[in-house]
Amino acid sequence: MLIRDGATLTVNSFAQDVRSGLGRAGQKELPSKYLYDDIGSALFEAITRLPEYGLTRAEERILRRHSGDIADCLRAHGMVVELGSGSGKKTRQILEALARHKSMTYCPIEISSSALVSCERELDDLAHVSILGFEAEYLDGLSRAVARRQPGDAVVVLFLGSSIGNFDRRPAEEFLRKIRQTLDPGDNLLLGTDLEKPLAQLIPAYDDSLGLTQAFNRNLLVRINCELGGDFDLSQFQHVALYNARERRIEMHLRSMATQSVTIDQTNFTLRCDETIWTESCHKYGRNEPAEMAKRTGFKCVEQWVDVEWPFAENLFVAV
Ligand SMILES: C[S@@+](CC[C@H](N)C(=O)[O-])C[C@H]1O[C@@H](n2cnc3c(N)ncnc32)[C@H](O)[C@@H]1O
Repeated sequence: MLIRDGATLTVNSFAQDVRSGLGRAGQKELPSKYLYDDIGSALFEAITRLPEYGLTRAEERILRRHSGDIADCLRAHGMVVELGSGSGKKTRQILEALARHKSMTYCPIEISSSALVSCERELDDLAHVSILGFEAEYLDGLSRAVARRQPGDAVVVLFLGSSIGNFDRRPAEEFLRKIRQTLDPGDNLLLGTDLEKPLAQLIPAYDDSLGLTQAFNRNLLVRINCELGGDFDLSQFQHVALYNARERRIEMHLRSMATQSVTIDQTNFTLRCDETIWTESCHKYGRNEPAEMAKRTGFKCVEQWVDVEWPFAENLFVAV
């Protein structure tokens, strides 16, 4: 069964975030959530299949090998809420394993309507799983989904793909604390975290030879042009992926190749030559870090499964 709870996102907040992010005196910045329109979601899905992007395959391997173990830990759960489900392909393994124990409601939460549609289509054939999708931001969707839990049902929240790494470290913990506040003791969070690894392995994942990540990044400018009446000249912006060693994160930027002026709906912004617009961060973690994050945010990390080929950890937290 497939039901859809209504959209809550507006063009207005996009316009406001773009105006404030590009109008800054210091580092210009655009929130990474805006990378995911229809084209961005399709490009991200293609990126996950690139030879350089080992992250998704690592998590798929963990879920293929251990979804039975994960389901054994979660057999009482009647509701699965997934934050930023994307296409939902990886989630199939977990849902199939869980549905062997108990029928359940699966709630994908997505900011991207096209990703939500793909996810619903991808998983619609699963027996004993009702799908209730929310086109919403993470926490708004989570609280709307959890409000529908049946009495006695435990909830498991999935936050896969190391999307937690898009938050800076402190806001990431603040975000985990807010998830915890929405849950009851005994509910779970399955958190995917990409681990630190050699730069020779890491950088190409965000700067691939085919140029898909460059297209994914520059599509944000296409989106501003189409939806907000901007006049970005794409040929004047270069994709940059760099490793910030102090913060232990990949940063994606768009570098202006000339001093130029851009107009968005009658407002002008000036970019100096070599100035960048920061569009995404992907923080990397030490193997023990997720357990420490759990302790500080009202959870306990009860299991961790690690892929060694592409260091990646799947962490099972319980709300305490
Ligand atoms: C890095 S992708 C990961 C997708 C999938 N979970 C995976 O592991 O392949 C992040 C997903 O979260 C969605 N997303 C990003 N920011 C969001 C937000 N603030 N609220 C809801 N969804 C968001 C995007 O549309 C995208 O599908």
